Amino acid sequence: MAMKITVIGLGYLGATHAVAMAKVGHQVIGIEPNQQKLESLSQGKAGFFEPGLDEALAEQIALGRIEFKAQHDESSREADIHFICVGTPQTPGSLAADTSYLESAIKGLAPYLREDALVAGKSTVPVGTAVRLTELLAEATGFSSPNLAWNPEFLREGTALEDSLRPDRLVVGVTNPRSEELLRAVFAPMIASGIPFLVTDLATAELVKAAANAFLATKISFINAMAEIAEVSGADASQLATAIGYDERIGNKFLRNGVGFGGGCLPKDIRALMARAEELGVGQSVAYLKEIDNINLRRRDRVIHLLTQELGSLKDKKVLILGAAFKPDSDDVRDSPALAIALLAQTAGANVVVHDPVALHGVSLKHPELPVEQALHKAFDSADAVVLATEWKEYRELDPTTVSVANKLIIDGRNVLDVAKWQRAGFRVLALGKTITN
Ligand code: UDX
Repeated sequence: MAMKITVIGLGYLGATHAVAMAKVGHQVIGIEPNQQKLESLSQGKAGFFEPGLDEALAEQIALGRIEFKAQHDESSREADIHFICVGTPQTPGSLAADTSYLESAIKGLAPYLREDALVAGKSTVPVGTAVRLTELLAEATGFSSPNLAWNPEFLREGTALEDSLRPDRLVVGVTNPRSEELLRAVFAPMIASGIPFLVTDLATAELVKAAANAFLATKISFINAMAEIAEVSGADASQLATAIGYDERIGNKFLRNGVGFGGGCLPKDIRALMARAEELGVGQSVAYLKEIDNINLRRRDRVIHLLTQELGSLKDKKVLILGAAFKPDSDDVRDSPALAIALLAQTAGANVVVHDPVALHGVSLKHPELPVEQALHKAFDSADAVVLATEWKEYRELDPTTVSVANKLIIDGRNVLDVAKWQRAGFRVLALGKTITN
């Protein structure tokens, strides 16, 4: 049955969740205080690159199932569930997550909250946050025990809408039967389609997300650590991953070695987990995550090492970085390994040029010091070396005979190139995690 809901905070998570909820038939009010974002959303544009999302958003607006507002008004009082989807970025100068947007969201909602309605947090938070927010909500509303639940979201950029509509599982942390009942109702079509629905306490639901991301980061850094060993022993880390991945207990997913993980989640979430565990007096339990982070960051240095080894000094050498987004099918450049490599090369004196099919706008905003080039073939012109840092399809499928590079050197930072094809075109190919005989 269609329910009235609000979705507070319309970034990646919120915009996708709002559209997904509208698509399953609910009546959605999206709350987004940023005027520019609000205007864009109201015109059917999410404001970031996510395949299929703008089309679905425009469709739901046209159907009248979704509307956007800068702040709550009386119509929010009609909603049964308020999903909080605001960001929890890394605090500058600390490993911990900044939860101040959550507190603002709670305060903004409180005057319009019905006592029998539910506040469901979806943001990734340090374990213990939900209890603190419940207290804040009780204070702000005067309700003795407000309904607050936690419902972590596991969507991946690039497949966000699909992940929201057909998640591997739904996890809800609740403190009373009413909250569970409302969440079962809002997710009814998904539950009916067989998606596992797990009911837990608040702390477990909060921790599920941190644990899942820590595990994924660990898998990637594990294979990248093996890549470090492969590089000095003549082994091939990609073949190693394939071979160990056949063991079902290990599995072959998230074992692609290369320049490592980035984005708005994995790096920040492992750091926030370390900070929270430290606060709780169990820092040692996840102290290993520091090494997971270090292995990941060392992969960026490895690319600079290879460039320097091949070119001598990087001073005044033109280095083309293919990719700026932290992964393909996204325009998100937060904590992007590609940009970190570009900045390291620039610091070493190289004339860096960055290409990306969709993310260059973000590069110019965040790093105006990095020169960008939109035309792929032009970007190659007289480059001394090329680094493939994000595995966009157009790079994987590029015909090497159509590009001119002064020094014919390419470093495959994602292990996706057809090495023989590039070699036939006269390129020397280097890759992470293996030794290629050119
Ligand atoms: C991640 C989680 O997957 C998702 O469940 C959570 O909700 C948010 O964080 P996302 O940040 O969109 O999603 O990206 P993901 O696909 O997990 O990739 C993260 C990074 O790891 C990317 O930089 C990617 O290039 C890298 N990666 C991924 C590898 O280096 N090797 C792999 O094998 C897989």
